[in-house]
Amino acid sequence: MDSTTTPMIPINIRESALHLTSIPSTSKSNSDGSQQFERLKDTRIAKASKQYVFDEEGTKYLDCFNGVAHVGHCHPQVVAAATTQMARVCTSQGFKSTLLQNYVKRLAQTLPESLDIVYVCNSGSEANDLALRLARQFTEEEDIVVTEDAFHGNLGILIDISPKMHGYVPNYKCKDFVHITPLPMSYNRSKLLAEEPPSDLKGDDLDQWVANKCADKVDQAFVEAKRKGRGIAAFICEPCFIVSGVCIPHKSYFERVYKTVHDHRALVIADETQTGLGRTGDHFWGFQRYGVVPDIVTVGRPLGAGHPIGAVITSTRVSKKLGAYFSTFGGNPVSCAIGLAVLDVINNENLMSSARNVGKMLQDQLSELRTKYPQWLGDIRGRGLVIGLEIVSDAETKAPNSPLAVNIMYNLKAEKVLVGISGKQKNVIFISPPLCFTIENSRRLIFALDSVLASYKAMMIAEGDDSESDNLEVNDGLFNGCIATSIMASNRLKRTNLQRMNPAENNCHLFAVETPSKEGDESGDGDSTSSPIIEEEWTHDAKKAREELEEYEDVD
Ligand SMILES: Cc1ncc(COP(=O)(O)O)c(C=O)c1O
Repeated sequence: MDSTTTPMIPINIRESALHLTSIPSTSKSNSDGSQQFERLKDTRIAKASKQYVFDEEGTKYLDCFNGVAHVGHCHPQVVAAATTQMARVCTSQGFKSTLLQNYVKRLAQTLPESLDIVYVCNSGSEANDLALRLARQFTEEEDIVVTEDAFHGNLGILIDISPKMHGYVPNYKCKDFVHITPLPMSYNRSKLLAEEPPSDLKGDDLDQWVANKCADKVDQAFVEAKRKGRGIAAFICEPCFIVSGVCIPHKSYFERVYKTVHDHRALVIADETQTGLGRTGDHFWGFQRYGVVPDIVTVGRPLGAGHPIGAVITSTRVSKKLGAYFSTFGGNPVSCAIGLAVLDVINNENLMSSARNVGKMLQDQLSELRTKYPQWLGDIRGRGLVIGLEIVSDAETKAPNSPLAVNIMYNLKAEKVLVGISGKQKNVIFISPPLCFTIENSRRLIFALDSVLASYKAMMIAEGDDSESDNLEVNDGLFNGCIATSIMASNRLKRTNLQRMNPAENNCHLFAVETPSKEGDESGDGDSTSSPIIEEEWTHDAKKAREELEEYEDVD
């Protein structure tokens, strides 16, 4: 397909979807730069393998944020499960199957005993919608408590309980049944918390103070609702607030909030869409590290490693009040075969401990890099392989710097490394790769990030800006409205100024590996890289995978 003649469609980076990153205008750029920027925006993914994706020209990208491909893109065991089952039977329409029975049993086995009822549906949104129905039926109340900047899906009611989306809906009016509480984050504290902490509070003490104040606000939401004659059915949140910028609350937050919610006879819904299935490294489910047990667990994206599956897990007590549940596609044999294969791969390939170790190392490397660029790199937060890196304007004020974060994202993309953007201020570099991400991959990400930041620094010095100052102005011509030019310029500068400045820190070899550059090409067209697709060896080949799959089947 000739990509120059087909219309632009926003795919690959989910900039047009969840995180709604606004892309700097290209109006100031020259036509070449603009074209290059458009190409970067319009990358069309044609195939993928493990933690790599390839565009239509065969250019290979390191995928550092596609958590949907949980166990790796196109894992042969998952592909074999899907194709084998697809050729047998793929409809459910309410029929039971041994695959479904095995799948719900295996999912339930990963959870505390009280959570013994599993509904299989088709997405994270469907799961959350069903969770709200369950909570409302059980409590006979309507209202829902949510956290600031949360996102729980794209069905009508889920937009209402997703404050992240409210600003994007023209003339949106927050619904009376929704109560928004502050995000328990110490770094850049929530504006919903009016009170200032005592100035001497630091570290864990400050985190705990913030956690307590935010938990108080949850309690106040119940009191306030009652005062208005309303009743609350559930509190829903992520166990680590990933879509709000990877915020890991102090343990005391969940201890207090769960108690408060239960004292008011409401239910807690843990939305594990971004944290479930071992991503956080220490536990299979994000809530488990807090020693609490939710009433309802919802999950979507990781379950099918790319195939649409969602699930709601709850207790018999809560489930009994729902009445009927029917889904044409939910729990179909193909989805169940895939879901079982994903659980197997996580287990067989020790992906949870890998997430823990690689994630720990990546966080250490990011911390080290921050010592080099303290003016731009702020807080580093995360667990296992879900990490957020705050991009700031100033180390002292920690002011969020969204334009720079977006710029870094695109410059990394030019380096064939894909990251996302998250956080309320859209200034958090979001890293949530497939769990087969390796230590070598994390080095590659760090080198690329180092290289991009070094080029900014080099460019500032080369342009005669205050070389003693590290204060990068994001609203100058370099970063505002001219990203494509800045990418070309930074690539050139990497090969020239940076080498001159500090040969020891030159990371130009990174380009050589995957981007055979046309030396001396000042037009920037050296970006038309077509590296051959190299298939990596998998632990399990498709034949072995098929044999393993037989275990789950009970064919008469
Ligand atoms: C925390 C959270 N909940 C729910 C959803 C909705 O899931 P889906 O897109 O599968 O409907 C998402 C999607 O990214 C999510 O991040």
